Amino acid sequence: MSKHTVAAPANIAFVKYWGARDLAQALPLNASISMTLDVCRSTTTVEHLAGPGADEILLADASGALEAAPDGFRRRIAEHLGRLRQAAGSGGRFVVATRNSFPAAAGLASSASGFAALTLATAGALGWQLSAREASVWARRSGSGSAARSVLGGYVEWPMAEDTDEGSWAESLAPADHWPLADVIVLVETEAKEVSSLDGHRVATTSPHFAARLAAVPGRLARVRRAIAERDLAARGRALEEEAIELHLGAMSSRPPIFYWKPATLTVLAAVRALRGRGLGAWATMDAGANVHVISALGDGDAVAAALAALPGVVGIIRDQVGPGPATLPEGLF
Ligand code: DP6
Repeated sequence: MSKHTVAAPANIAFVKYWGARDLAQALPLNASISMTLDVCRSTTTVEHLAGPGADEILLADASGALEAAPDGFRRRIAEHLGRLRQAAGSGGRFVVATRNSFPAAAGLASSASGFAALTLATAGALGWQLSAREASVWARRSGSGSAARSVLGGYVEWPMAEDTDEGSWAESLAPADHWPLADVIVLVETEAKEVSSLDGHRVATTSPHFAARLAAVPGRLARVRRAIAERDLAARGRALEEEAIELHLGAMSSRPPIFYWKPATLTVLAAVRALRGRGLGAWATMDAGANVHVISALGDGDAVAAALAALPGVVGIIRDQVGPGPATLPEGLF
């Protein structure tokens, strides 16, 4: 039968998916816009085999050796494989292996790249031709909404759909070469985060600040869309930082509260403001975690990384940038 391998990137949201109308299907309460990354990727090989038996799900360890995936990870992948197998009207079983280009201990274990790669590689192994729209819908159905954006490269919007499930997919705003931006990812935590994004979505609407942010999102989306079209670094940066702070304000004031930040998160945010004071166009954002993504012009990435790497509490830096999106690879992981 057939085997297919796809590398799919993570993405960093400028305007974020936070709170869901339907969490199981990842139908959001607001539209989001992201930049697809290049270096942080998941590579997944899926082999489709005839005959009965359980799906086998493997994860590469730090040395690259494949081992059985931990239970929680296994369960979500098995559910998504079942969903895709059923939709393709197919039987048989799958052998799946995944390797992340970024350290699993970096607290960056984004399910977006993983579920985008899994969706595309499984479709390939089943001989199923997915359009970009279908790929986005199917990646979203994994339950990781941000995976809907990771099937595309460059700058991506996942609009707020009027209708349901079939109507919610992400679309390209501009290709990666439209605007070469750096993402200097400043690592301040090495453990997996304590509260998942899913748990964050679950309590998002309990914050007294949720409604205020939601009301501000349409205007912020318009500013980010315009800033991308006009390559306006400062306009995009201001909207990006505003959004990140309001998202975390919401998380910290939800019931129960969620504190994603570590003390070093604030140290990095202050250092980024100081860089701007020195004339460098760098702005920060954080997903549901403590690590800080600092976005600047590609040529300023070296200066940003050099200024932030030695701060107290910073345990590492990943140099990333806008990227072209998923790719099919000739070589499999097994
Ligand atoms: C804060 O439910 O897509 O990153 O499955 O962990 O990737 P994962 O999360 P998901 O929620 C994403 C939350 C966010 C904002 C965003 O990426 O839009």
